[in-house]
Amino acid sequence: MADPTLDAHNIADLRELARRRLPRGLFEFMDRGCEDEVSLRNNRTIFERIKLKPRVLEDVSERDQSVTLFGHKQNMPIAIAPTGTPGIMWHEGELALARAAKAAGIPFTLATTTLTAMERVVDEVGGRLWFQLYMYADRSLSRWIAERAKTAGYEALIITVDSATFSNREYNLRNGFTIPITYSTKNIVDVVRHPRWLFGVWLRYLLEGGLPLYENYPPEVKARIKAAPMGRAMKLNDALNWDDIREMRKLWPGTLMIKGVLHPDDARQAADCGVDGVIVSNHGGRVIDGALAPIEVLPQMLDAVGKRMTVIVDSGYRRGSDIVKAMALGAHAVLVGRATLYGTAAAGEAGAARALTILREEIDRVLALVGVTGIDELRRELISLPNHMRAMIDESAKTDA
Ligand SMILES: Cc1cc2nc3c(=O)[nH]c(=O)nc-3n(C[C@H](O)[C@H](O)[C@H](O)COP(=O)(O)O)c2cc1C
Repeated sequence: MADPTLDAHNIADLRELARRRLPRGLFEFMDRGCEDEVSLRNNRTIFERIKLKPRVLEDVSERDQSVTLFGHKQNMPIAIAPTGTPGIMWHEGELALARAAKAAGIPFTLATTTLTAMERVVDEVGGRLWFQLYMYADRSLSRWIAERAKTAGYEALIITVDSATFSNREYNLRNGFTIPITYSTKNIVDVVRHPRWLFGVWLRYLLEGGLPLYENYPPEVKARIKAAPMGRAMKLNDALNWDDIREMRKLWPGTLMIKGVLHPDDARQAADCGVDGVIVSNHGGRVIDGALAPIEVLPQMLDAVGKRMTVIVDSGYRRGSDIVKAMALGAHAVLVGRATLYGTAAAGEAGAARALTILREEIDRVLALVGVTGIDELRRELISLPNHMRAMIDESAKTDA
């Protein structure tokens, strides 16, 4: 029987398994950030500066890490972030990731730019499903996708608002990675050197009739897609504004979130537009370089809108302790992107499930070690913040006073 641990004892081990399995261009697309990768690094190093202040001699023998999010009780304080390409990391990777999320009792978010049609995820997996929407310059296309997600029965719509234009990922230009894959000598050598991916993903799709394209795009846009460096195939809407959010609020009756907010005033605006939740995110360091790590601004966000709307955070979460820190600051949940994507790339559903098991065990251990029995007992007093975060909180308290 296959070893269920996959010999991976933390998320970094899963990352290494993914690195070995994937062609380099594809691995870099998943793993790296943009420009000088300052945001990417800071998303991780900030957790070294936010410290736990554990309490001892508390009876922590009965522990439970469930939370209630948008009225639904779930087993862990996390949800799967939208990522564009699980289906190219693993054959039908979106279904694999969705199945792992369902088994773990947490929501899964399907991204607009995925390769599996949204209806298939509903029909073949089910569970708690959220859909992420990119807004196009032609707003009618975005509305078409949102209507389709509504008909398919998605519980929540997440509009990503941090990508007014394409990010600058120079490594993608150098490694020439594209979807569909272009047949340059460099790419062919890269792919041939990774036979497990070549046979398990690429050739399998080809044998089944060809690589699925962006199955969630409207037909007229899908037809226009041609190979281009990842992320440059579609024109995003750089005229997107709050009126668009108000329009989407009218169209979407279910839970509506906006993703990619780093300023408390934007969170207040979102609440004023009737949005149900904000996702404090710098897109895992992939879009704007030199931005704050979301957790640096989380306390201000919560002070600004935490009582009016759900505040979720992401970017850089690789350890249970990272998640516990965000929850102790008051986050309602954490989204994980690469942690489960590494797992999917390493071993499909089993790898994604392994990532979630690792996080569940780490969260459980940290809860015990800080002296609480559940997420609801976490509190800011258990956390020590670096000076600059304390100063930011004081500053916004003065402005709000
Ligand atoms: C390969 C990859 C693709 C992504 N694609 C999308 C996307 O299509 N839409 C979106 O809103 N966010 C996308 N994201 C960002 C994630 O939703 C999330 O914000 C980010 O991964 C969180 O950081 P983490 O990877 O460090 O957990 C992507 C992230 C990765 C790594």
